[in-house]
Amino acid sequence: QEIKTGSVTWISPSNIALVKYWGKKKDQIPANPSISFTLNNCKTTTTLEFSKKKAAGDITDFDLYFEGSSKPEFKPKINSFFARIEKYCPYIKDYKFTISTENSFPHSSGIASSASGMSALALCIMSLEKELNPAIDEEFFNKKASFLARLGSGSACRSIEGPLIIWGKHVKTENSSDLYGSKYPYEVNDIFKNYQDTILLVDKGTKQVSSSIGHNLMHGHPFAEARFQQAHSNLEKLREIFKSGDLKAFIKIVESEALTLHAMMMSSNPYFILMKPNTLEIINRIWSFREETGLPVCFTLDAGANVHVLYPEKNKSEILEFIKNELVAYCEKEQYLCDEVGKGAEKL
Ligand code: PMV
Repeated sequence: QEIKTGSVTWISPSNIALVKYWGKKKDQIPANPSISFTLNNCKTTTTLEFSKKKAAGDITDFDLYFEGSSKPEFKPKINSFFARIEKYCPYIKDYKFTISTENSFPHSSGIASSASGMSALALCIMSLEKELNPAIDEEFFNKKASFLARLGSGSACRSIEGPLIIWGKHVKTENSSDLYGSKYPYEVNDIFKNYQDTILLVDKGTKQVSSSIGHNLMHGHPFAEARFQQAHSNLEKLREIFKSGDLKAFIKIVESEALTLHAMMMSSNPYFILMKPNTLEIINRIWSFREETGLPVCFTLDAGANVHVLYPEKNKSEILEFIKNELVAYCEKEQYLCDEVGKGAEKL
């Protein structure tokens, strides 16, 4: 089918890993399987305008606008994304693109936009592919969008669908793949429905270590093999936990995963400490509050100082009250974001 010009917009969310992806092999193949909640409010909206060139060029041609202004500093990352996907989407060289993108969360909040941003762009490319080949069905569309998103940023492949996405081959999980994320195939207790994630912005500065440097530090890391094994075993344990809704056991795994991620960075060469004093202050207060009240609140961390506070929707009022009274004071400018588990990306 001949398509000359067109435009498509996708809104794609961020996600928060429960079992963390940390370490990768060639071609963005994860060193261990991971699982995440897809988020609902932290998202990127991307519009891709395309017009057919008179003659195809050697590289994919595009202009990029971020929140209304042109952003040359973001171009290299998108350039390498296009270079990686050309093999799978040869048609992209036939088009000139204009990419316009914006985030729902504040710029430089220390919230990574790579998962939402790369998944939104991958979905836009797939919409062009579907115009060229209308026979593509939804399953193929989502799988390939996730496959392409992975080549942009590993964790982005977990943002296409929701609410719970596994990525990386896990022998105990049917249909899991290193190449794309897929919906968790087993029973999940209603307690995890609309699970809440309040993101405390402890440090809004740019990341000390980019995730690609971080992943590379797992090559030759003295504890790498044990860590990868642990991720497999935690995923296996989660199967029964998701079914039963045993939040005590859930919390043990989720917090251990967050601390292990940071322990890997602290014990790599070179080493890094990505937590801040306020990160630890918040963790200690969550622990005291949990002990005092018995409420099922826990934390997880990404590769930075911000804290994700996770809890069931039914405990929202008392836990949000605690967060506002006791934790928000440790955030930069008292800033935090309220999010919850979501369904995945949407076409506008
Ligand atoms: O997708 P990347 O390469 O930015 O890696 C992200 C890794 C963590 O956020 C730290 C963990 C995860 O599984 O999302």
